Amino acid sequence: MTITRTLIRGVGGYLPERILTNKELESKIDTTHEWIVQRTGIEQRHVAADDEFTSDLATKAAQRALDAANMSIKDIDLIIVATTTPDLTFPATAALVQHKLGMSHGAAFDLQAVCSGFVYATTIADSYLKNSLGKRALVIGAETASRILDWNDRTTCVLFGDGAGAIVVETVDLPDDRADQGILSSRLRSNGNQWDKLYTDGGVSTTRSVGHVRMQGREVFKHAVGMISDVVDGALEDAGYTADDLDWFVPHQANRRIIDGAGKKVGIDPKKVVITVDKHANTSAASVPMALNQAVNDGRIKPGDLVMIEAMGGGFTWGASLIRWTS
Ligand code: ACO
Repeated sequence: MTITRTLIRGVGGYLPERILTNKELESKIDTTHEWIVQRTGIEQRHVAADDEFTSDLATKAAQRALDAANMSIKDIDLIIVATTTPDLTFPATAALVQHKLGMSHGAAFDLQAVCSGFVYATTIADSYLKNSLGKRALVIGAETASRILDWNDRTTCVLFGDGAGAIVVETVDLPDDRADQGILSSRLRSNGNQWDKLYTDGGVSTTRSVGHVRMQGREVFKHAVGMISDVVDGALEDAGYTADDLDWFVPHQANRRIIDGAGKKVGIDPKKVVITVDKHANTSAASVPMALNQAVNDGRIKPGDLVMIEAMGGGFTWGASLIRWTS
């Protein structure tokens, strides 16, 4: 008997050149480097150039993931871009990425689940491919969060940054005694009753503008750890593993204190937790694939490792996927 699995073939990331440090923010708003580091772990963030759009960041990360997978765009059947900051209201940023990569076959669409977008997109790509709608997909998380920040609101503007990350995934049929590879289980959740804890105060249909990020920081913090551990425990249970079996925990990089709290609740050794939030702040849907890219390229995540990815964000949305790494 065979089992169809979606394997990771390559990962890539891209950060815009311009670095904005906490020190620089001190000269613009009433904050300090020490306050930001102590409350969030963030030291700096990257900011896209004025003529650099979400689709540009996404395209660069996608090309690097294709290179890492030793594939070309011709091999890809599906592109999903998880983003909250699309280039245009329509068409989808995924269509623009398709154009920039020179692809006119297959399908491409955006997915909006805010910071959980990449985990959602990975899970949707897994289902799409397992249903034989294609063989290989590019799953991208890309954001120009700097464009929706109120740079006078010190409670939000210090938290976010721009960037993109991508993976190439491929389905294969494996004999059932070799099926412990690729995406093993996923859990997705949302609770729209909590929409007003983290949102933009504008949108196409309401204000005919994009608005700015507004957040009840303490409320987000209060819910985050419980939601994350709920889906992480669930994904482990679905695949028949426990936290002790994990080689790496790759959380959404929102805030060091949320990451530490979630890691503790799940019961994972802090040495197995990948942290990148210090260097690029919260890049929303891009943060998990960028952290994966970092940990693969510095030699931490290796083929055969058991990796848990998770995220939580606006909606609220939250989700986790357990992956036996293969690239
Ligand atoms: N610099 C200096 N002081 C600040 C800043 C700042 N950047 N921001 C807020 N403060 C002040 C507040 O005005 C307040 O002052 P006051 O006591 O005089 O009124 C004081 O600091 C304490 O404010 P709190 O909001 O209570 O600070 P808290 O300890 O809760 O930290 C934070 C705020 C970091 C936002 C925290 O609530 C948090 O981590 N929340 C999680 C939110 C998060 O990470 N969101 C990311 C997006 S969601 C996601 O991706 C999961």
